[in-house]
Amino acid sequence: MKTGKILLVGIGPGAHEHMTFRAKQAIAEADVVIGYSTYIKLVTDLLEGKEVIRKGMTEELDRSIEAYEHAKQGKVVALISSGDIGVYGMAGPTYELLLESGWTPDDPIQVEVVPGSTALLSCASLVGAPLTHDFCSISLSDLLTPWPVIARRLESAARGDFVVALYNPKSGRRTQHIVEAQNILLRHRSPDTPVAIVKSGYRSLQNIQLVTLAEMAECDIGMLTTVLVGNSSTFVRAGLMVTPRGYANKYDAMTGETRAGEQAGRSLSMGLEGWKACVRGYLRETPKATLQEAASYFDRPLAEILDAVTKATADDVAGVFSAQAVNTEQFDDLLAALSNWGSLRAVVRSEGGAVAELLINGADLQLKNGWLSIVNDHFHLHIDWRKAQQAWFVSRDDAAHGLQIVDAHGNNLLNLWLVAQTGSFDADALTRYQHDKSQLSNSPKPKQA
Ligand SMILES: C[S@@+](CC[C@H](N)C(=O)[O-])C[C@H]1O[C@@H](n2cnc3c(N)ncnc32)[C@H](O)[C@@H]1O
Repeated sequence: MKTGKILLVGIGPGAHEHMTFRAKQAIAEADVVIGYSTYIKLVTDLLEGKEVIRKGMTEELDRSIEAYEHAKQGKVVALISSGDIGVYGMAGPTYELLLESGWTPDDPIQVEVVPGSTALLSCASLVGAPLTHDFCSISLSDLLTPWPVIARRLESAARGDFVVALYNPKSGRRTQHIVEAQNILLRHRSPDTPVAIVKSGYRSLQNIQLVTLAEMAECDIGMLTTVLVGNSSTFVRAGLMVTPRGYANKYDAMTGETRAGEQAGRSLSMGLEGWKACVRGYLRETPKATLQEAASYFDRPLAEILDAVTKATADDVAGVFSAQAVNTEQFDDLLAALSNWGSLRAVVRSEGGAVAELLINGADLQLKNGWLSIVNDHFHLHIDWRKAQQAWFVSRDDAAHGLQIVDAHGNNLLNLWLVAQTGSFDADALTRYQHDKSQLSNSPKPKQA
């Protein structure tokens, strides 16, 4: 008996000229072609003499089961899907079924995935060059994915400034998902952000709308539409949606010359190595800025700003700030240390932006069941100490000295400042603070005599 084979074929967006050579070859090779009836229609002229199995939209797993059954009978089976079969397509479910049935890649039944141009690529090509920088795709279908997962992905993509391709944006029953997606994207992106709505790309009813994020949900969107939402740099000019590659960060557009401070073929001055120098530059040029404000400005966790401050040198100071990281092995000694620093101003921030400043005495902080607490007649302060991950001794010239504690994400957990009475610090408290800093921080310690 002939050995069966399963070909998982992506046929591209629909038009034959956008199908790959291998996709056509795979269909030609097949004894049996299985697919959703609309996809079968798109390749009718390639199916002469073949056994054709048309399936409905909901019969997805049946397609994989039938493909395997026919392959076991020694037939070459092409399971076809629009776009790329691995993108919201049948490749995943087919491999899942095969592996659960005990099939392995060493099995005589061979499986080949034939890639195709997925909708986001085809649709992008019709509107210009919207995907020239980092992008992602999110399906708005909640048939198999819980909405909170979809919402979290939308939120992350929006915050990460990705160009976002929305698959399955709307159907007869799912009409509000695109509205909710718009709301989430608008929390992070301008209402003027360009959006391309491509319906039936490369098919007979092709329709393209170039609109803004504010208008998106009101547009004509259906089951066969892909929505491309630009990033913060995407623009529309002469009817083309373009996302810049980033050359303008390095080169002058008119002269082509490298911008001051940049080098061809090297990371940007704001690259991995250089950006922390930019943090120090910002703190020098913005002397009134707090470290928290620097974190907001660069949209990075406070811990990374503190790391930039610790790396300051005499030639590259961090404005008025200096910082030394607490040794991670000595983290637990911090509590004993700060109980000797006398009056402290505890600063606690909520994620929403509220800030509480409380006058406490370090010695009153109690650690119980993982919580660092102070309970008195005026307030109850409870900090989940298990979340404390890293700490820095921080000074703002001679005007402020304290401790900054962050959580595992590098975000602010608790900030404690020594309190200056009538303009000067308690000399003993300051001496103890400076001593603890030299003992607990990562700075080079003076040799023991
Ligand atoms: C189940 S997904 C299948 C995706 C397909 N495997 C691919 O790689 O393009 C169906 C979604 O793909 C998008 N899509 C597929 N073909 C399209 C086309 N010709 N024009 C616009 N969008 C299309 C739409 O968002 C549609 O809701």
